[in-house]
Amino acid sequence: CEARKVALLGAAGGIGQPLALLLKMNKFVTELALYDIGNVVGVAADLSHCNTPVKVAGYTGPEELGACLKGADLVVIPAGVPRKPGMTRDDLFNTNAGIVKGLIEAVAKHAPQAVIEIITNPVNSTVPIAAETLKALGVYDPKKLIGVSSLDIVRANTFVSEARGLDMKDVDVPVIGGHAGATILPLLSQTTPAVTFTDAEKKAMTDKIQNAGTVVVEAKAGKGSATLSMAYAAARMAESTLLGLNGEPNIYECAFVASEVVPEVPYFATKVLLGPQGVAKVMGMGELDSFEKAALQAMIPQLKGEIQKGIDFVKNPP
Ligand code: APR
Repeated sequence: CEARKVALLGAAGGIGQPLALLLKMNKFVTELALYDIGNVVGVAADLSHCNTPVKVAGYTGPEELGACLKGADLVVIPAGVPRKPGMTRDDLFNTNAGIVKGLIEAVAKHAPQAVIEIITNPVNSTVPIAAETLKALGVYDPKKLIGVSSLDIVRANTFVSEARGLDMKDVDVPVIGGHAGATILPLLSQTTPAVTFTDAEKKAMTDKIQNAGTVVVEAKAGKGSATLSMAYAAARMAESTLLGLNGEPNIYECAFVASEVVPEVPYFATKVLLGPQGVAKVMGMGELDSFEKAALQAMIPQLKGEIQKGIDFVKNPP
């Protein structure tokens, strides 16, 4: 397959390090460029000793960011601060908005052709921040900007498998909407294999999936949010994207992308088809049951507000 360079920005962090390891083990990656404002040189030295063919290099400080990004096919961004107990993803906005904007400006300059995957929370706002930043610099391609909400799918698949004693590898639960609280909407009625839930079970399972990130934040007791499961989910998303770039279009669920599926919100997570240019097609959300229809209507104001907050951060800075 073709040579593929992946740049990982925020590579020395809790998500960055395990994600770097998973990418070092990925057969579609030829070059892995690790960037952080922290000690990423040590991470790169450590990782480079693993005997897989992926070439690893560490870059630190803004003056090395251009070299890190140059020629990248895929840029994955987990840079930013994580949640502490009692915080919502939206509470991260003030710090992470500026970090994402700054990094995206560099991507626009040094790797305008790359597919960009954003992990930094709040994803519902950081994706619109990236889009507006790229638009202002004249290099926005909606097919190439993806919010990584795939941890919601990973969690939904795990929890539904466990609840019903199903084989993990067989279970697929589409998750639509956004990536925060009530904007995370698992479509349990579209679970494969088909599973039936009572209304009470459906509500309990939906709550469990929506609160899963907060459960990890509480369990880590001030030491951050999900890192290993997030890295796993992001590695899956990256693999699917690289497969698409290499000319093997494949459907991957739940990416938060520019979308017309719900007219009130310009970004929305549904299944997407990944292809040689990034997102080849937004698949839509299929038929919802009455519980899901109500949950979708209820989430729209929150999702709309979080998206607008991101747009305003770039368009009408405070
Ligand atoms: N450029 C590059 N790296 C940065 C920058 C920046 N401007 N600002 C912060 N970083 C780096 C930090 O040095 C750190 O190594 O980002 C990394 C973040 O790591 P952690 O603090 O361990 O946070 P993590 O758990 O990885 O979460 C990062 O992902 O899921 C989201 O909500 C989460 O927004 C958070 C992000």
